[in-house]
Amino acid sequence: MSSLRLSGVSKRYGNFQAVDNIHIELQSGEFVSLLGPSGCGKTTTLRMIAGFVDPTLGTIEMDNQILSSPAGSIPPDRRQMSMIFQSYAIWPNMTVEQNVAFGLELRRLPNAEVKRRVGEMLEVVRMNHLADRYPAELSGGQQQRVALARAIVIRPSVLLLDEPLSNLDATLREEMRFEIRRLHDEFHVTTVYVTHDQAEAMVTSDRIAVMNQGRIEQIDDPRALYNKPKTRFVAGFIGRTNFIEGISDGHRIAFDGFALPRSAFEQDVPSHGKTVFSVRPHTMRMSAAPPSADGGTSVGVIVLERAFLGEHWDYLVRPRQGAAPLRVMTSPLDDIAVGANAWLEFEPRQMALIA
Ligand SMILES: Nc1ncnc2c1ncn2[C@@H]1O[C@H](COP(=O)(O)OP(=O)(O)O)[C@@H](O)[C@H]1O
Ligand SMILES: [Mg+2]
Repeated sequence: MSSLRLSGVSKRYGNFQAVDNIHIELQSGEFVSLLGPSGCGKTTTLRMIAGFVDPTLGTIEMDNQILSSPAGSIPPDRRQMSMIFQSYAIWPNMTVEQNVAFGLELRRLPNAEVKRRVGEMLEVVRMNHLADRYPAELSGGQQQRVALARAIVIRPSVLLLDEPLSNLDATLREEMRFEIRRLHDEFHVTTVYVTHDQAEAMVTSDRIAVMNQGRIEQIDDPRALYNKPKTRFVAGFIGRTNFIEGISDGHRIAFDGFALPRSAFEQDVPSHGKTVFSVRPHTMRMSAAPPSADGGTSVGVIVLERAFLGEHWDYLVRPRQGAAPLRVMTSPLDDIAVGANAWLEFEPRQMALIA
């Protein structure tokens, strides 16, 4: 287990800035995801950590020792890291047991120790009953478990995973997220996990770095990232949201067709000028009748559209005095017809101020 530090790391290909001035510090034993859309620089960053790509600028350190800098780099095989790619190829001509043992044999560990550690590892990934099978005789999820076992059994200083679940079907993917986190809780290997799937990042990670066009927009724990996104990109990428623009006059924030008292907000809402908030669809309450006492936070709306999704209603409403529609998610019991008047109650403390 090791700490890892990326300081001002950039990668340029010709005129194209693939990774742009990244700073991340992982504590020993921490699990951090790089989350972002395709092409934002996740794999390039991971490959720089592994040593397959040299940074154009910046340094990568492990336990305060420089691994990479523009002046030179330690080669991948001397970094004691394990990496799992999208196509987590395990050797087809070796059994499960031989696959997991391979890295230990390469390191010339005594036979008895190899046997013991492989046995332990297979037990943890629940594959000991299939130790003699060949990869072709395994399901996708089982192959993935072998790949993880093989990566972790050598006790790497850092584990690097690049979209390791993207070849699995949806149900298995969901199951393996928890499996990956369980393995982490067991072995505490410092891990960098690359994914474009927000749920995958949220289930597995201590912290998530949201990347956009080569930069990190925000790095935070999953709850902070969801509840207090700092930029429009982060708010829109993690879950669904409404962006609403308001103008503050010191006492009230005037939005399109309604206003909310500034004192109801938790954050330091500027006393004057334009502000943009991210409002999650489930943070507003909707009712057919006006609330009796609401502290000035409820707004008359008209229901434009709605869809019943079983676990919730998905409403599109418009403030009666405004033009811009809002998406609202309510309990399956909130049955208000299209065209009807309703009241929407905001919870300003759950509205995130966007930079
Ligand atoms: N060897 C390379 N030469 C030129 N451009 C590259 C190279 N590798 C990656 N890129 C570009 O850098 C950007 C980031 O790529 P990548 O790190 O693979 O993104 P991600 O993993 O987030 O999808 C992409 O636009 C990609 O085309
Ligand atoms: Mg990639």
